[in-house]
Amino acid sequence: MTATSQAAANQDFVGARVVDPTLRLDAVRTVVVRRGVVAALLDGPPSAADPQAERVDCAGMVLCPGFIDPHVHLRDPGDPHKETLASGLAAAAAGGFTAVAAMPNTRPALDSSESVERLRHDAAALGGVRCYPIGAITLDREGTRIAPLRSMAAAGAVAFSDDGATTKSLKALYNAARYASDLPQRFFSHCEDDSFQDGLMHEGEISDRLGVPGSPSIAEAAIAARDLLVAQVSGKAWHLCHVSAAQTLDVLRAARSWGVDATAEVTAHHLQCTDEMLAGFNARYRVNPPLRSSSDTAAMRRAVADGTITVFASDHAPHAESEKEPPFSQACVGFSGLEVAIGATFNALGDVPLAVMVANFSSNVAALLGVSGGTLAPGSPADITGLRLNRAWSVNPAVFASKGKVTPFEGMTFAVKPALTVVGGRVLMHDQDGDARTERFATSSARGAS
Ligand code: DOR
Ligand code: ZN
Ligand code: ZN
Repeated sequence: MTATSQAAANQDFVGARVVDPTLRLDAVRTVVVRRGVVAALLDGPPSAADPQAERVDCAGMVLCPGFIDPHVHLRDPGDPHKETLASGLAAAAAGGFTAVAAMPNTRPALDSSESVERLRHDAAALGGVRCYPIGAITLDREGTRIAPLRSMAAAGAVAFSDDGATTKSLKALYNAARYASDLPQRFFSHCEDDSFQDGLMHEGEISDRLGVPGSPSIAEAAIAARDLLVAQVSGKAWHLCHVSAAQTLDVLRAARSWGVDATAEVTAHHLQCTDEMLAGFNARYRVNPPLRSSSDTAAMRRAVADGTITVFASDHAPHAESEKEPPFSQACVGFSGLEVAIGATFNALGDVPLAVMVANFSSNVAALLGVSGGTLAPGSPADITGLRLNRAWSVNPAVFASKGKVTPFEGMTFAVKPALTVVGGRVLMHDQDGDARTERFATSSARGAS
């Protein structure tokens, strides 16, 4: 891997298969970039292009509109031992993402126009992956007093959420949704009823066997129903974060039948990891919402295949290694996700057409957030994600750029590997498929594949 940070230049990305669902394109093209913008997609070599332009060899790659992760926790400000803006955005670039949307459960929370503005400014100053702030719905995310949604929107918040927790008060959520109903920013729900906060894992056979208090599927589905009812009465466009329970999909489909404008995302872990992983009291695999049953993961995969779920998210939630250790009840919840999300998501969904996978990572996310990108149409910012579809690699968290090294995918081997990250014409990551590859991803894990 060569990490480069060239200034926006004139480049010809040659030799790749270009897949862009917004253009209904799946063909070999030269992506011609001029001053950070896609200038043309040429059928054939760049004969008409500037001979001075840098030639970036992309043979064997699939080039796509830049992948955007709509749900990450960057811990900035507040917890630099878990992650910083710099380490989190470096992880995004390493993982193949050109932009991320950052959740507001920082310390202090992103609940003012000043904090939204500061995050945007600090991220822009780093000059790499784009970072879009998500503002809190309630002050300090404590669930009762409405945050200044309109001034946060004006400062650049792309959505509103109390993620990390459910907005506690129905009254606050209802009033907030009505107050902001004319704003284009969606409300993003983290669905888990407060009364199940003592649940340490999915409630099912395994929690029963372990004697651990659980959080059942209805803890998620009931809040999804509550929130989508608020969407219905307020007319607010809504988004369900990290859907994990099959029952929540029933609620989502019902709400759509009432005419609610609701979207939903799924994480790589909820597509394939189950509560079996916690059967040995393994505190590292605690996450909210929890890993559920194999029938839930199968329902998530079917929901992607049938178009019920149209967005992929990592829910990148880095914690220090020591914070993920027992005692079981005290371990921090969440996983590092940015550097495994692409490989792991493709791993779960081998039967889903490539164009759908790309849309769920790019154009659908750009539409969800109302941001530019998500397309390689000439005139668009040159935000490009390159993939190798058949380049087996094994997950080795020791080489993550993220400070969070805990992932349920450690040691697993995936076929699809991010190989190029370009933002506004700047090449932030280029894995040239040579020896240097092993710098970032060991080809086999010392701990063995699982
Ligand atoms: O597992 C999780 N971790 N779920 C959340 O909702 C919050 C996140 C975090 O911030 O650590
Ligand atoms: Zn959440
Ligand atoms: Zn989250």
